[in-house]
Amino acid sequence: MKGVIAMKSEVVKLLNENSLISVEESMLEHPVHAQMGDLALPCFPFAKELRKSPTLIAQEIAEKLNSPLIERTEAVNGYVNIFLSRNGITESLIRKISDEGTEFGSSFTGNGGVVTIDMSSPNIAKPFSMGHLRSTVIGNSIANILEKSGYKTIKINYIGDWGTQFGKLLTAYRKWGNDEEVKAAPIQTLLRYYIKFHEEAELKPSLNDEGRAAFKALEDGDSDALALWKWFRSESLKEFQRIYDLLGVTFDSYNGEAYYNDKMDPIVQELDEKDLLTESDGAQVVELGEDMPPALIKKSDGATLYVTRDLAAAIDRKQTYHFVKSLYVVGNEQSLHFTQLCQVLSKMGYDWSKDIEHIPFGLILKNGKKMSTRKGIIVLLEEVLNEAIDLAKGTIEEKNPNLANKQEVAEAVGVGAIIFSDLKQHRKHDIEFNLSSMLQTEGETGPYVQYANARAHSILRKAGNVGELKIDEVNDFEWEIVKELNQFPSIVERSARSLDPSVIAKYAIDLAQKFNSFYANVQVLSDEVQKPYRLALIQAVTIVLGESLRLLGMKSPEEM
Ligand code: ARG
Repeated sequence: MKGVIAMKSEVVKLLNENSLISVEESMLEHPVHAQMGDLALPCFPFAKELRKSPTLIAQEIAEKLNSPLIERTEAVNGYVNIFLSRNGITESLIRKISDEGTEFGSSFTGNGGVVTIDMSSPNIAKPFSMGHLRSTVIGNSIANILEKSGYKTIKINYIGDWGTQFGKLLTAYRKWGNDEEVKAAPIQTLLRYYIKFHEEAELKPSLNDEGRAAFKALEDGDSDALALWKWFRSESLKEFQRIYDLLGVTFDSYNGEAYYNDKMDPIVQELDEKDLLTESDGAQVVELGEDMPPALIKKSDGATLYVTRDLAAAIDRKQTYHFVKSLYVVGNEQSLHFTQLCQVLSKMGYDWSKDIEHIPFGLILKNGKKMSTRKGIIVLLEEVLNEAIDLAKGTIEEKNPNLANKQEVAEAVGVGAIIFSDLKQHRKHDIEFNLSSMLQTEGETGPYVQYANARAHSILRKAGNVGELKIDEVNDFEWEIVKELNQFPSIVERSARSLDPSVIAKYAIDLAQKFNSFYANVQVLSDEVQKPYRLALIQAVTIVLGESLRLLGMKSPEEM
């Protein structure tokens, strides 16, 4: 039925071209009984305008409606019953997908409007967390989906590289630091210094003063402090880069919090000029009414805060990119922060604050509990990946021992499994991190979809030339696939509108399932007459499955 719905618009177009009346999609009904057609148009609403009986109108329309997409029509009691032609629809769809290739499903909905996507955004000298992994994967997929829908996306990695903690880190490094140690394992080592700082400061509170002084020096541009900070930053980024390479994610900007260091004074001044600042315990805040805690703009010691930097960043992004939408892919727990951010911007008179949207997501759980990764996600991911690669390699050795690029394929499967398990549910849900279940080749997994796609490619390889498309008959298994393929453009549109990659992930599962049951039941290569058509259908499946996987940020190996 879903597929028929997508064909409605084609039928509506035909109706409008062929009759005097103007028909809208909502007027078409879905008859309960198959003998009344796939779609039906009641003609009663047109009687008055046309001064004819509905019976007559139905007869006239039924006669005029000619198209390869329609098998036959019937006029019954003022209704036009429309029977869709499997052959016609299948042929036109296969031709369309083969002509458009990977452009199938693309649209100009976004009209080239810019969407900035704040994503990943880990903190330097701190472990890359599960939350940062989710933000990276979800943000990347949303970017792909929006690009396909005609938007121009700017992926911004808003690195957490500024704040009082860097004063503490500088102090700790000067006391206990060692170059070699840091180079060998930057994040783990810096984190260790940072933890040690806090332990020692418990006993010797004056350390905190040293930390504050060090951050002040950094903010004032002290060259020694800056050099160290830069080095911490670049070592951390190198380590983060390993994840981005594994995931195949790139960014358009790495402007993080530090970038806004010298852009905050004008913001604070602007807030002041617009009479929005109030003093509270020596700090400067913006009051946001009874139901909302005030936004803290400047501490009593003059230090700026997270929200201050985000204000500067939001305004800078608007000026630089002229976005139509500005997205922030950040965990549920920062909802309040983004609500405050938007409210302050709106109080400042920036009506574009309505175009800012927080894209929240849930936690990654292990056995129902929030996952804590002592060593950070980089180490964990590498462990997971190695395990995944081993598992995938085992399967390959069994099924396809002569495969040329085993390592590459195993990586695509391992990483793909992690991405898919993240994206297959709505992002607001918490998800359970279970390596062995996400690597299953059966069930709702990434490898399941990738295998279906590779299977399809292998048939095409075996068959050689596809040949001339001529359809004799479309069986039920094939019709199921056709209806699914036909849905793809509206699926892309829906996922773009709701900024929800799970729509694509679920679709990919459905299509893979339909393809697999076709594969299990239909002998593709043995029926010479139907072979060219079936191969063309399979080719269309590989295009749409490949595109679905790409939108999720996954690879689609042709051989596995
Ligand atoms: N670095 C922050 C964190 O790890 C996330 C930043 C999100 N983006 C933003 N513009 N505030 O919690």
